Amino acid sequence: MEPLGATTVFLVICVSCLLFLSAWRRLSGSGKLPPGPVAFPIVGNTLQLNKRNLPQSIHELSVKYGPIFTIYLGSLRVVVLYGQEAVKEALIDQGDEFSGRGKLALADKLAKGTGIIFSNGERWKQLRRFALTTLRNFGMGKKSVEERIQEEARFLVERLRNTHVSRGPSQDWGSFASRLLNRGQWDLRSAKPTYAAEKVHEEIDHVIGRSRSPCMADRSQMPYTDAVIHEIQRFINLVPLNVPHAVTRDTHFRQYVIPKGTTIFPTLQSVLRDSREFPKPEQFNPGHFLDANGAFRKSDFFIPFSAGKRICVGEALARMELFLLLTTILQNFTLKSPIDPKDIDIAPLPSAAINAPKPYQLCVLPR
Ligand code: HEM
Repeated sequence: MEPLGATTVFLVICVSCLLFLSAWRRLSGSGKLPPGPVAFPIVGNTLQLNKRNLPQSIHELSVKYGPIFTIYLGSLRVVVLYGQEAVKEALIDQGDEFSGRGKLALADKLAKGTGIIFSNGERWKQLRRFALTTLRNFGMGKKSVEERIQEEARFLVERLRNTHVSRGPSQDWGSFASRLLNRGQWDLRSAKPTYAAEKVHEEIDHVIGRSRSPCMADRSQMPYTDAVIHEIQRFINLVPLNVPHAVTRDTHFRQYVIPKGTTIFPTLQSVLRDSREFPKPEQFNPGHFLDANGAFRKSDFFIPFSAGKRICVGEALARMELFLLLTTILQNFTLKSPIDPKDIDIAPLPSAAINAPKPYQLCVLPR
């Protein structure tokens, strides 16, 4: 045989073996795995995925493979759930089976299966119960913790008031809020549908005034501010793929069988960016959470804290902090960007796990 012919035959055999292996992995075990792209031994699908923007790659695969599909991150099998129905069915309707914590390479090394976020089984159950009881004893969701947050907010305002130059580059999730509020001013000037920060200021002045601290009881009378905070959380899409879950036993899910221990991505971005619920989901628009009369509108698709048995333990605390801190800051200051708001880059830093903001500069001007 010619050398070129031998090489071709060898390559054909290799590729056939790889395809066979991939198909065998999907069909072996106790049932049929969800479909997905052909995975190669050792590297799995990593060469087909954009490591700098895994959420985008996952979104593109969902267009091709539908709401439930399998990928391999190296040798790690991951079943991705994409869309509100699949995520809800798994986390709520089959909550027990999907309540395991999936593998996180670095976290596994550091935490070694300890701590509430990374543990499983009986240890996780006890830690979760303990964490919830302790947080409640600290006053989470009650008046006592509200007073602590109000106090912190006042300290923050004093600190900001004593800052006589614009703050240096900073990086925190609050910056997303302020940058979006600044973008609102740009929208206002370009006559696009707007929200700003001015309407939030108006609501604060009307309901709270300038002489007392905002409190949680104000929220029900501030539908616009409430909608802005919800929209910020929806839009920033903080944990796009969720923290990985795992199935605790061999699990029948729709027409598939997912083997025990398989890592699951119950993607939050697929719910927070669902165009059936949020028209133009890529645009920041507090109207997503307002009805025709301007009243606050709840949405089952608002799940930035996830859902089911592993739902964020700190949700009540975080929501209280977001409302009290944002309203206290805007009660006292106007937020201004030192650069033209239309040049503000609100794209997050490239990351597989978290949509973190890029460093930014912000001026806080006393009102
Ligand atoms: C805006 C702020 C926050 C967001 C968007 C957020 C979001 C999340 C998400 C998406 C998860 C994964 C849920 C899942 O596995 O299905 C999670 C888990 C968790 N969060 Fe949060 N979180 C926030 C603030 C907090 C705070 C303030 C605390 C602590 C007081 C906290 C404590 C936890 C814990 C302990 C878990 C693990 C729960 C478990 O594995 O059982 N989070 N969070």
